[in-house]
Amino acid sequence: MPNASNPAVSDEELLAAARAAREHAYAPYSSFSVGAALLCEDGTVVGACNVENASYGLSLCAERAAVVSAVAAGKRRFATLAVVGPPEGASAPCGACRQVLVEFAPALRVLYSDGEGYEVTTLNELLPVAFELP
Ligand code: THU
Repeated sequence: MPNASNPAVSDEELLAAARAAREHAYAPYSSFSVGAALLCEDGTVVGACNVENASYGLSLCAERAAVVSAVAAGKRRFATLAVVGPPEGASAPCGACRQVLVEFAPALRVLYSDGEGYEVTTLNELLPVAFELP
């Protein structure tokens, strides 16, 4: 299906980019590899993976890694995020990642693998009452 926000990149292509990024996951502690691909409004696709650490709490989720990479590359406007985890079960973004994503793209479309295929939702739906500074 053509992407609603950027017809040049389909949802399937974005999920494929997330799947490819997942190949680079560094997850020796959880063995839970995650890939994310962020479609920027200019059509750029930024892929990233989770990167764990022996000090477990320092582990970085794939979604936040994608946001950081994109912002470091000068991109701050995002249309769609695709997240792919292990084939069994759903891989919706964790709460911390939702809050980081909402900083840049409250209306972001979000695709995440659910074991059989993928779910299509929005960040508004995933995080209806985000924290914001007054
Ligand atoms: N993880 C992600 O990359 N994204 C999420 O939204 C949830 C969890 C990673 C963190 C850790 O490396 C592994 O999955 C298990 O929690």
